Amino acid sequence: MQLTADERAMAEGRDGPAVAAAMDLLLRYGRALGAERLVETDNVVASISASTPFMRGFAARGGGMDAVFSQFSLDSDQAVPIPPARARTVHTQLGFAPDHAAQMGVDEATVTFYRQGEAWLAGRGVAATNTCTPYVVGTVPRFGEHCAWMESSAVIYCNSVLGARTNTEGRESVGAAMLTGRIPYWGYHVSANRRGTHAVEVATPLQGVRDWGLLGYWIGAQVQERVPVVQGFGAAPDLVRLKHFGAAASSSGGVEMYHLVGATPEAPTAEAAFGGQAPREQLRFGAAEKRAAWERLNANGDERRVDYVMLGCPHYTFDQVADAAALLQGRRVHPDSALWIFTPRAIKAQADAAGLTRTIEAAGALLMTDSCSAMSRAAPKGTRVVALDSAKQAHYLPAILGVQAWFGSTAECVDAACTGRWAGEAPA
Ligand code: F3S
Repeated sequence: MQLTADERAMAEGRDGPAVAAAMDLLLRYGRALGAERLVETDNVVASISASTPFMRGFAARGGGMDAVFSQFSLDSDQAVPIPPARARTVHTQLGFAPDHAAQMGVDEATVTFYRQGEAWLAGRGVAATNTCTPYVVGTVPRFGEHCAWMESSAVIYCNSVLGARTNTEGRESVGAAMLTGRIPYWGYHVSANRRGTHAVEVATPLQGVRDWGLLGYWIGAQVQERVPVVQGFGAAPDLVRLKHFGAAASSSGGVEMYHLVGATPEAPTAEAAFGGQAPREQLRFGAAEKRAAWERLNANGDERRVDYVMLGCPHYTFDQVADAAALLQGRRVHPDSALWIFTPRAIKAQADAAGLTRTIEAAGALLMTDSCSAMSRAAPKGTRVVALDSAKQAHYLPAILGVQAWFGSTAECVDAACTGRWAGEAPA
């Protein structure tokens, strides 16, 4: 790979052994990908915490978080001191919610260990945003900016809605990017790879967030890891619809980038989105396809009794928390059910200040941060049947927790929590 003088100096140890190990990792990674060079980045979304018992055991053997980072982020058997981040870095979601550890079945010792790790991260300049939606709490790269992000639902938003550039990175590559401010220049960093491949015509009305989730889920299954160019969807969707659409498309397929003609920044026209190349396939999303996506997501829903409702995948925005609070106003979660709502810490603080948390808790629900049921593998004890307003969570949770899942609108989910029964309906 071609290196600049600065990159060569980092690789040769000018900035210490951790940065040299990070460059070594990036060069091995880049060569394996066929990248010819690295690109500068100052926008990293990373997972760095010691999130598993194995990692915590590793830290406890003496080296602490330096040893964990060396081994699991830099692929270095030798524990080296980790310097502050060179690139602006925020932390993505965790494996549990530290303020609701007991409900998730996480013990005090793990919380204490996590708090120590959080202080270690702060010392390296990493912000503990702890969310899969960094773009709603201040991490908003400019158009065309090169980033190194983890978390598929955030990656697809970064590429498609913000017009910034990232691949779906892993713990190792973002750790190395954080210390060097570099990432291999390949995949979605390269303009030619961002062009559309599949044309999708929406031929049925999209009503609300649920239908955008169904559209994304159907498209992901059709195009897999390609780049869909979507037309015919009516009014430009808002942030929440875009968030649910992208999360769904990156779950049923591996979509990392899409274009909505007239709505996303690299698709002023269909011609611009395709960049002069002809679509490989023409797809049509009509009423039958919408219904099929809904049926696939509800395929393992059987019992109508609902033990648990989870909202906030991807993490809820302030407006979504407010909507959920309004739906719960004056109601109570059924004694045989539970409702957990997940949001970023910064939005939880706003919800606290606005009185929304009080409304949610008065109804017997919880507003939680930092994680979700899929990431934490946690649900209220005895859960067998769940209801979800997220296609992504409905895609993963049955396999992760061995539960039945119902998918529907937020209102249907809140009703399920308050009645203890699923009464959601298929799209017309
Ligand atoms: Fe976020 Fe968990 Fe969904 S981390 S995108 S809420 S699976």
